[in-house]
Amino acid sequence: MYYLDYAATTPVPKAVAEVMTAVLTEDFGNPSSQYPLGLAAKKRTEADRVVVASALGCKADQLYFTSCGTEGDNWAIRAALWQNRRVGKHIITTAVEHSAVLETMKALKAEGYDVTFLKPDGEGRITAAQVAEALRADTALVSVMLVNNETGVRFPVEEMAALLKGRPTLLHTDAVQGFLKVPFTAASLGADYITVSGHKLGGPKGIGALYVGGKAQKPHPLLYGGGQERGLRPGTEPTAQIAGFAAAVFLWTKDLEERRAHLEAMKAYAREQLGKIEGLAFIGGADAPHILSLSLPGYPSQNIVNDLGAKGICVSAGSACHQGKLSHVLTAMSLPKRTAAGVIRVSFGPDTTEEAIDALAEALEEHRSTRFPML
Ligand SMILES: Cc1ncc(COP(=O)(O)O)c(C=O)c1O
Repeated sequence: MYYLDYAATTPVPKAVAEVMTAVLTEDFGNPSSQYPLGLAAKKRTEADRVVVASALGCKADQLYFTSCGTEGDNWAIRAALWQNRRVGKHIITTAVEHSAVLETMKALKAEGYDVTFLKPDGEGRITAAQVAEALRADTALVSVMLVNNETGVRFPVEEMAALLKGRPTLLHTDAVQGFLKVPFTAASLGADYITVSGHKLGGPKGIGALYVGGKAQKPHPLLYGGGQERGLRPGTEPTAQIAGFAAAVFLWTKDLEERRAHLEAMKAYAREQLGKIEGLAFIGGADAPHILSLSLPGYPSQNIVNDLGAKGICVSAGSACHQGKLSHVLTAMSLPKRTAAGVIRVSFGPDTTEEAIDALAEALEEHRSTRFPML
């Protein structure tokens, strides 16, 4: 099998799985228990928090573990709106956010909020000037992702943060695709809330974290229950998930520059090899080193994904989150219909090889030359 869908999820390295197994079977205490097994679990979870916080460049007490990136996005947005409930009910976001943000915005609209969705250009870019133009005295929140999960475009979040200095408007960024892939720290970004997730970087599914800093006050909770996560995110800590997340982050940060260079090299090789295919077009800015979006105009992407899948090559049609429908990102970019309908997303990880890319190039060429364009 050739796995080229690291933006959807990633394999958990054996070393990470081993750490998790030890926590599940031996160091399995409840961090709230007051005997040594529980105290050890608490200590380990706090050490894991330090690992993830260090990679984000923030203090451990600015980081809350969540059940996933989706929860972090929901929480940050709701917490910001609660904090700024007297500022107003206007929100600025983009038309190309992940559904974790977009669907929250749709729910907020139904609750009476006024949401401005910024539109990208044909490359998938959004500028700080667009945010400046949309800003109003009653803008409570700006929520703009750091790296788009379909195009790999990186948005200028730090410029947006600079715009909001001296204003009450809070800034959230969904950095689920950006964390460790593109260089940033909590301080360099200047966002008040940053969402990250474990399973995009070799951690297990079902664990994420939310950074809360800058102008953001203690976040209003999304859930009510026990006193975990300083009383703000109840639920017995998923100690094995947290340990796996931290172990995966540790593996990344240990070889950070080599890993980024490897992703860049794989993307450059893919551009070179896939660029030889007649009619193939690359889509969007693709700033992040691990994401490359491309299209075989006229060839429906689901057919491409099926054909490649039959050969053991895993790529996604636009985004794995909305299989079957034309992606909202590509629609917002106003791509020609034939191009948009033929988009696939290829994404790379630390284990990606040139051999996998060669197999992809060969299979795509075979698809192009043996199937009739349908659109
Ligand atoms: C940009 C972005 N935000 C949020 C999420 C959701 O993260 P999770 O799967 O951990 O809920 C994803 C996952 O696909 C993503 O790519």
